[in-house]
Amino acid sequence: MSTEDTTAVPVRAQAAPSARPARLGDPLPRELLDDGERLTREQLAELQLDRLRATLRHVYDHVERYRRKFDEAGVGPDDCRSLADLSRFPFTTKADLRDTYPFGMFAVPMADVRRVHASSGTTGRPTIVGYTDKDLSVWADVVARSIRAAGGRPGHRVHISYGYGLFTGGLGAHYGAERAGCTVIPASGGMTARQVQLIQDLRPEIIMVTPSYMLTLLDEFEKQGIDPRTSSLKAGIFGAEPWTEEMRREIEERADISAVDIYGLSEVMGPGVAQECAETKDGLHVWEDHFYPEVVDPFTGEVLPEGEEGELVFTSLTKEALPVIRYRTRDLTRLLPGTARPAFRRIEKITGRSDDMIILRGVNLFPSQLEEIVLRTPGVAPHFQIELTRRGRMDHMTVRVEARPDAGPEQREAAAGAIARDVKDGVGVTVDVEIVGPETLERSVGKLRRVKDLRRS
Ligand code: DLL
Repeated sequence: MSTEDTTAVPVRAQAAPSARPARLGDPLPRELLDDGERLTREQLAELQLDRLRATLRHVYDHVERYRRKFDEAGVGPDDCRSLADLSRFPFTTKADLRDTYPFGMFAVPMADVRRVHASSGTTGRPTIVGYTDKDLSVWADVVARSIRAAGGRPGHRVHISYGYGLFTGGLGAHYGAERAGCTVIPASGGMTARQVQLIQDLRPEIIMVTPSYMLTLLDEFEKQGIDPRTSSLKAGIFGAEPWTEEMRREIEERADISAVDIYGLSEVMGPGVAQECAETKDGLHVWEDHFYPEVVDPFTGEVLPEGEEGELVFTSLTKEALPVIRYRTRDLTRLLPGTARPAFRRIEKITGRSDDMIILRGVNLFPSQLEEIVLRTPGVAPHFQIELTRRGRMDHMTVRVEARPDAGPEQREAAAGAIARDVKDGVGVTVDVEIVGPETLERSVGKLRRVKDLRRS
């Protein structure tokens, strides 16, 4: 981040005058913490239990499918006397939402549903999610809290390149940024050249976008002959897809910004379920006053102790229109104690989903492991694609990686060898690596699909 304090903005809202203006990356002054952030862990646990019991009652009374599932499991809302009792309740999965498509899991009359969104499923019907007025307000609050945790302050300009529409990214970020007292530039996704022009002309301090589309934007800056390090941007809030520490370094260096992670999913709310704090960048604090996390063994469903890796499961604590009880996210991570916001537990940066896992000749691997390797290899750009094919009865993986424009044939060959070797040593599988010319692989305009699985076709 540049040391020149061009982004200094006076902290408005309820803040007391501080000795000097806020800068991105500063710890949040206590005056800017909201009520939820001021709770102690004990107060939070008490609030969570009250809210959990009310949510269990709400779904039991208003959603037939929950009532049936609870009855079948032999539990009722009154059986939840402690937070640990939640583990006695059945899980909810995407299949529950699909089977009751579109509105069967809604817990309020449709007249009270102010907005719907849909999850970005790539196959079959989308999952429709809904929000009451209060849900939309809570959502704006948690995204505003996330933006402050990322260093955003009232008066900052926020350029939003998450897609607007059924996807929760654009509108979720939008109302949160407004709630945070920022000036919103609702760019949405696509029209990359124009995005760069808007950033140059309107001079936002913050960008909210998928990390893969940020790379596309950085390439476009360079194509237009502009060094992205000279832009007005000081911080990026990146999420909606997995990204690695190597990707953070690449973006921070190329753009001279502070890059933090935002997590969420439509079924639970949208962006703003968990957020990394700019001052620690050590995983994402789960906004536990609204979303109760558990990590479970993906095979047995057993609740795992803090620190152990497994599947993240969420129970909403304040949602009205579409409350979820023990929703299985398929995202893999571990729970850790709070740091920058001590009352809220953290999740470790999510590196994959159980359904993104590639099983290649018996070895399990995630695209993020390849991202780590590609991004630390000299001579190649951070753009790559994975293709899975079948040769005879054997699965085969080809990794296509773009060369950097200045890489000559020798460097390309060395890069291919280094990547293949690192994959073999680090992951334990043999893959083909093809280095392709600059700008030949498909670019992200939103969520990136890195894996092309041709094994069944
Ligand atoms: O992607 C919500 C969102 C929008 C989050 C913008 C952050 C920023 P869905 O389309 O329902 O919602 O997809 C949810 O995306 O279960 C994860 O697998 C993945 N995901 C979201 N954020 C992250 C992240 C939005 N920070 C699914 N790191 C989730 C890794 C993420 N994966």
